[in-house]
Amino acid sequence: MSRLKELRKYVNEEINKMEDKDKRTSAIAHLYGVSLAATMIAKKRGLDPEIASMAAMMHDLHAYKTGSYDDHAHKGAELAGQILDRLQLTDDSETEMICSAIYHHDDKLVTDSPMDEVLKDADVIHHCMNDLSKAIKEKEQARYDKLCEEFGM
Ligand SMILES: [Fe+2]
Ligand SMILES: [Fe+2]
Repeated sequence: MSRLKELRKYVNEEINKMEDKDKRTSAIAHLYGVSLAATMIAKKRGLDPEIASMAAMMHDLHAYKTGSYDDHAHKGAELAGQILDRLQLTDDSETEMICSAIYHHDDKLVTDSPMDEVLKDADVIHHCMNDLSKAIKEKEQARYDKLCEEFGM
């Protein structure tokens, strides 16, 4: 089994513990949607698509598990570190890259490391493109515009 598949199996099991069926569905849609977007963006920018995809699969897991978005990026990075420790899928530098991307993913108005930026951009792609009839959030507009330009959309 690929390590992405192994991580997804773990994440699926965690999400399946959520009681609300609709929340479960949107959690899965968001994590897989961001994961696909992260793969594309990383590939386009010459970064590791697998690491980007793995970070995306866990980026909001803490919020889904607890039902709270309070500091979910920082707490989520800690949770991801524990998960990767347990699953033994990554080396230290990969774990650090994944945890850093999750840690910074809510800081959409600043620029961090290239891999951090991949996860932020992938999150914005899913927020903005999951339903094009929905208004784009003000704090995501500039990032979305830049992405449309980068991808010729
Ligand atoms: Fe988030
Ligand atoms: Fe997200």
